[in-house]
Amino acid sequence: MALDPLYLATAIEAALACGRIHLQYFRKTLDIQKKGRIDLVTAADLAAEARFRALIASRFPDHAVIGEETAIEATAREARCQWIIDPIDGTTNFAHGLAIFCVSIALQVEGHLEVGVIYDPIAEELFTAERGGGARLNGAPLGVSRVSELVDAMLCTGFPYTVREDRMQQVDVFAAFLGTAQAVRRLGSAALDLAYVAAGRLDGFWEERLHPWDMAAGALLVAEAGGTITNIHGGALDLFQGHVMASNGRLHEQMLGVVRGARR
Ligand code: IPD
Ligand code: CA
Ligand code: CA
Repeated sequence: MALDPLYLATAIEAALACGRIHLQYFRKTLDIQKKGRIDLVTAADLAAEARFRALIASRFPDHAVIGEETAIEATAREARCQWIIDPIDGTTNFAHGLAIFCVSIALQVEGHLEVGVIYDPIAEELFTAERGGGARLNGAPLGVSRVSELVDAMLCTGFPYTVREDRMQQVDVFAAFLGTAQAVRRLGSAALDLAYVAAGRLDGFWEERLHPWDMAAGALLVAEAGGTITNIHGGALDLFQGHVMASNGRLHEQMLGVVRGARR
């Protein structure tokens, strides 16, 4: 059955509204709270998520919302239609005035990602995808890169807020990629990292201990741009499992091999 076009239109409308909220707060005196020792939440995260929830509640009252800044209701995991939002992906960058952040919005219907939108209000880049309809950047079709050897690849990763507890394991994988790729970056926004894989700016991305809101929209973008997206072992991606491997497809087996080798 064809997807209601209002879903993508709503995701775009919401992403642009969240982007306006980001800009109202960015590089201004900001109320910043700590959710954990190094895990921040700002007034802008809360305002953007509240704006999104109000829009979905008024337009699709029977849809569930899973968002970073609100506890997940027990019924949301079972809902037929689930919106998944990260109101600011890259909060630490945002709080420090570093202009690498975005809003990430996805819609899952019966367990399938149907819509993914990522918006960077600084660059005014709107990444959109609908299942089976390709991926776009500001309306123009997107495709992954054609790099086929790791030695020519620009890769990216990130570290979770729990990195202090198991950093040596993560450093082993990071070091293994440093020894095999052309370059490895850590931008601080998993959603933008995935959008950049879809856009062919990055050739691959991996990360562990992510949340559904970090990767839902980006996962659909990568798949629709012709890339490959799996968990870090090469199996089917599970948004609640937390680990992800994304690539242009050509590099996927090589990247999985590097992770396997680093863990031996
Ligand atoms: C974080 C960013 C970062 C990644 C962390 C995420 P947040 O999300 O995506 O790049 O390394 O694992 O938690 O907290 O900025 O929404
Ligand atoms: Ca995030
Ligand atoms: Ca966030």
